[in-house]
Amino acid sequence: PPENPPGPQNDTSAKLVDDAAHPWQAPGPNDMRGPCPGLNTLASHGYLPRNGIATPAQIINATALGFNMENGIARFVTYAAFLVDGNPITNLMSIGGKSTLTGEDPPEPAIVGGLNTHAVFEGDASMTRADTAFGDNHSFNQTLWDEFADFSNRFGAGKYNLTVAGELRFQRIQDSIATNPQFSFVSPRFFTAYAESTFPINFFIDGRQTDGQLDLDDALSFFRDMKYPSGFFRAPKPMSADGIDQVAAAHPIAPGANNGTVNSYTPDPTSADFSTFCLLYVNFVNQTVKGLYPNPTGVLKDALNRNLDFLYDFIDSPACPQVFPFGQ
Ligand code: HEM
Ligand code: MG
Repeated sequence: PPENPPGPQNDTSAKLVDDAAHPWQAPGPNDMRGPCPGLNTLASHGYLPRNGIATPAQIINATALGFNMENGIARFVTYAAFLVDGNPITNLMSIGGKSTLTGEDPPEPAIVGGLNTHAVFEGDASMTRADTAFGDNHSFNQTLWDEFADFSNRFGAGKYNLTVAGELRFQRIQDSIATNPQFSFVSPRFFTAYAESTFPINFFIDGRQTDGQLDLDDALSFFRDMKYPSGFFRAPKPMSADGIDQVAAAHPIAPGANNGTVNSYTPDPTSADFSTFCLLYVNFVNQTVKGLYPNPTGVLKDALNRNLDFLYDFIDSPACPQVFPFGQ
């Protein structure tokens, strides 16, 4: 059953996180890793269970301890992912593919497929992972890494920074428009894509460094090897999607999708965008979550409702009232 989410940590200073208590170990053959380089790294250093199966509280604690992720955003992202990719009854989620270790599945159409599951949270135009239409949406992709490095060289003098983030975010969208007939870039992916473009700057730069320039060897250590650079210090204060406005403003684009052929990108006015943040929440709950759980009962319904409450904690405003797809 769901536990209460942990609150903010007391010590939010920069500190050594590549420490003796958290040695890096390569994942074993049965350990789950997935599309998120942050969570992969936390698992490979033992901040999360090394098998890649975790509770929401473990993820919130680990992102705080290991990266200084701000409590509110950590809770929002974690419960959003958990509601669509985790098992509400056992309170476990895979940070990669589907696993029997998350326990007996709730009835279909629930998926409980872990973070690799396409479209409910994971989405297209990722920086270092390919679109699901090309076969593998979660493994490090060398060709995409080469593009990441190329853009950092061209626009960041060899570093990844917010200027590079704005250019690369737009390029990855253009790549998908031109090559993926199934390309979709609507909410929630519309938001997570821009947020994740800032994460390497906010979380992968050593906390003793203040210039906002991410070294490419350090970036590769996280994206490919799921490993802190040696002696790494976490960020010096709680961080979120700081800089997202600058990334989005570089090349504004409306949420939308290709319509089954390449180069057919069509805006979707039913999707939330940056001017309608509440709609992100409402559509996610009423469409995405409700789509997976059309008619839950008993302990399943209770667990879903608890997790929906935890998700809403981040919104909590009269301008965006809570919605209750399963009743109150
Ligand atoms: C991408 C989940 C925290 C860094 C992703 C993706 C998922 C995910 C599902 C794949 C989206 C996609 O690209 O299609 C989560 C969850 C978190 C979390 C549930 C819980 C709080 C973090 C943290 C960091 C991070 C703390 C950094 C330290 C990233 C980056 C990407 C990403 C950089 C983009 C990867 C790419 O585009 O190649 N995350 N994440 N995430 N995550 Fe996380
Ligand atoms: Mg993706």
